Amino acid sequence: MTHKERPEGQILVIFGASGDLTKRKLIPSLFHLYRSNKLPKHFAVLGIGRSSYTNDEYRAYLTNELSTFGDIKDADQKAISSFINMFNYLVMDPSDMNEYPKLKVVLEELSTTNNINENYLYYLATPPALYKKIPLGLKEVGLNKDNGVKGKKRIIIEKPFGYNLKTAVSLNHTLMSAFKEDQIFRIDHYLGKETVLNVMALRFANGIFEPLWNRNYIDHIEITAVENIGIESRAGFYDEVGALRDMVQNHLIQLVAIAALEPPIKFDADNFRNEVVKVYNALRPLDKEDVLKNVVRGQYVASGMHESYREMKGVKKDSRTETYVAMKLFIDNWRWEGVPFYIRTGKQLPTKVSEIVVHFKQTPHMMFKGDKNERVYNKLIIRIQPNEGVLMRIAMKTPGSGYEVKDVSLDFTYDKLGGVPTGDAYARLIEDCMKGESTLFTRSDAVEASWKYFDTIIKEWEDNPMIPLYGYPAGTWGPLEADKLMNKGFTWTNPCKNLTNTDLYCEL
Ligand code: BG6
Repeated sequence: MTHKERPEGQILVIFGASGDLTKRKLIPSLFHLYRSNKLPKHFAVLGIGRSSYTNDEYRAYLTNELSTFGDIKDADQKAISSFINMFNYLVMDPSDMNEYPKLKVVLEELSTTNNINENYLYYLATPPALYKKIPLGLKEVGLNKDNGVKGKKRIIIEKPFGYNLKTAVSLNHTLMSAFKEDQIFRIDHYLGKETVLNVMALRFANGIFEPLWNRNYIDHIEITAVENIGIESRAGFYDEVGALRDMVQNHLIQLVAIAALEPPIKFDADNFRNEVVKVYNALRPLDKEDVLKNVVRGQYVASGMHESYREMKGVKKDSRTETYVAMKLFIDNWRWEGVPFYIRTGKQLPTKVSEIVVHFKQTPHMMFKGDKNERVYNKLIIRIQPNEGVLMRIAMKTPGSGYEVKDVSLDFTYDKLGGVPTGDAYARLIEDCMKGESTLFTRSDAVEASWKYFDTIIKEWEDNPMIPLYGYPAGTWGPLEADKLMNKGFTWTNPCKNLTNTDLYCEL
């Protein structure tokens, strides 16, 4: 199937139909696909939840949420109403196994009335506690059976995939007792971001970078994904999970993999995902001392207008959940031996930014003498969001007499390619899944390899009360201890606080 072809007719079944993820991400993404003619020609959605809605009430609810969360400035009301008419609702408790026969009947009816083969795509937009029950419920009534042309069955499962290695293995086991690996789509929306995918193009569609992309020329790599918001209304979820499980074990480590992987032979599901797993398996295992020395965790405290994390509604007053993590890690393979990767994430930092900064090694010698001239480190900044683009810092002579050399930028921003990336990462991933294209979804071995690495940190944090949880004032760049992770002479690259302009870079 080419990327232009529409997916075959199917029914999307959303478990958690009135939840946060559905209204914030899924409905706007589906609407985006609808407006771009990317949904199947024969298509219906069945929302499932415990709240008691009729079809009409559910459609009215969605229309309202779409106006809040969707990008509908140019959409006419007719498009919205024909889009919303594809939605149906079933009141059902997914944790009750006795309810699944009812679901089967409703799906068969919907298939018949909409002239769709029994192709069902299940989206688990529910709390993780249901991730095991739903696949088993579907299996109980045969709704897991992939009958090829007569009815494909696929399942999308959200992060967090497990709580540690043990629970992830057990979840994989249950899921795979009902569905085959090629029916399972473990979603990590970072892999759907246009700019993350562009890192692959930058590295492998340009001849100039790959010869330099290794320990001989790269000094270190920084990966940042920070936010200037707190936990909003997600205290119940976040206080149990924390930044390591929410961002590091999945989004950040995916970015490490994209920056570090070997060129896949082809960009397809097996080849790409094989290379990702190789990176995870090459992560240098941490011991207790590494956790103490190379991992910094923090929690934001009150500052200015912001209240502290512990004051947030729903957070335990003595919570030790981390809202910030910075760490130094190594990849033990031929390409990356000895090159530190510094990664960090945090809530309530000064700005929202995700980027990869590649620091090249210094020139061996500086022949231009002068007070202001220092040896130059070239930097390649790959900005994932906002102001998506790529920027290279290089040294140039300033005009005039003498030889003063200055660090300046060569930049590319997406608007030069005809506009900023449109469409949400979710839209791209849902479309891929509807087509059965699994390249950008996490395979079971990758999820387990990643947990295996992070399990040591989780265990040490649980077992060793001596490991500090540093407070940092909300609105700052996190605990100062994170700076000490860096090798001598380096600091984190903190972009300007106000990233609303189109510049990719500014000196603080
Ligand atoms: C989600 C996390 O997966 O990613 C959130 O659960 C976080 O806590 C979000 O805010 C960040 O995503 P993005 O695309 O805004 O960088």
